[in-house]
Amino acid sequence: MNIAICPGSFDPVTMGHIDIITRAAGMFDKLIVVVMNNAAKQCSFTPEERVAMIKKCVADHDNIEVDAFDGLLADYAAKRGARAIIKGLRAMSDFEYEFQMALANKKLNPDVETLFLTTAQQNMYLSSSMVKQIAGMGGDISGFVPSVILKDITDRIGNK
Ligand code: COA
Repeated sequence: MNIAICPGSFDPVTMGHIDIITRAAGMFDKLIVVVMNNAAKQCSFTPEERVAMIKKCVADHDNIEVDAFDGLLADYAAKRGARAIIKGLRAMSDFEYEFQMALANKKLNPDVETLFLTTAQQNMYLSSSMVKQIAGMGGDISGFVPSVILKDITDRIGNK
């Protein structure tokens, strides 16, 4: 079985992530979306909350599993027998950081390849931080996140 993993902090998941996740799910027998920690980020949602939100968004896809892991991505890929790590590239500005991570992961786990999918044009400017910033100021985030998780986000971050 060809298994791929799509890692991220997903704090929260956005339309940009869902686009990459569903396109990748069409290319592999199984896609595992894994909520991980980026040591440089302070998250607004717990890993369990982030997993629950992603599950709601991909509920109609039989070959997508959602999991959380606190450790190295390369170790998780080995543990799950994944052939590929899928990442979305938004702009040139993402490239250097992603290239560095891909090389480090290849060194740590030579059996896994990192594949980059081009982010859809309408999501090029999108990020989880931007969604949180707009929600925090009472703005409308309905164009940026799936409707099934809109309330989860505004209940936590909405204009207080
Ligand atoms: N469309 C729109 N936005 C997108 C996107 C897309 N297709 N793909 C990513 N983004 C956004 C995300 O929302 C995120 O926004 P934010 O910075 O406002 O939160 C930003 O781009 C960065 O996303 P990503 O590159 O996926 O980074 P991340 O912080 O979500 O995840 C990990 C990075 C968790 C995968 C990485 O830190 C990791 O592997 N951690 C595990 C520990 C480890 O192995 N470390 C060594 C790695 S070499």
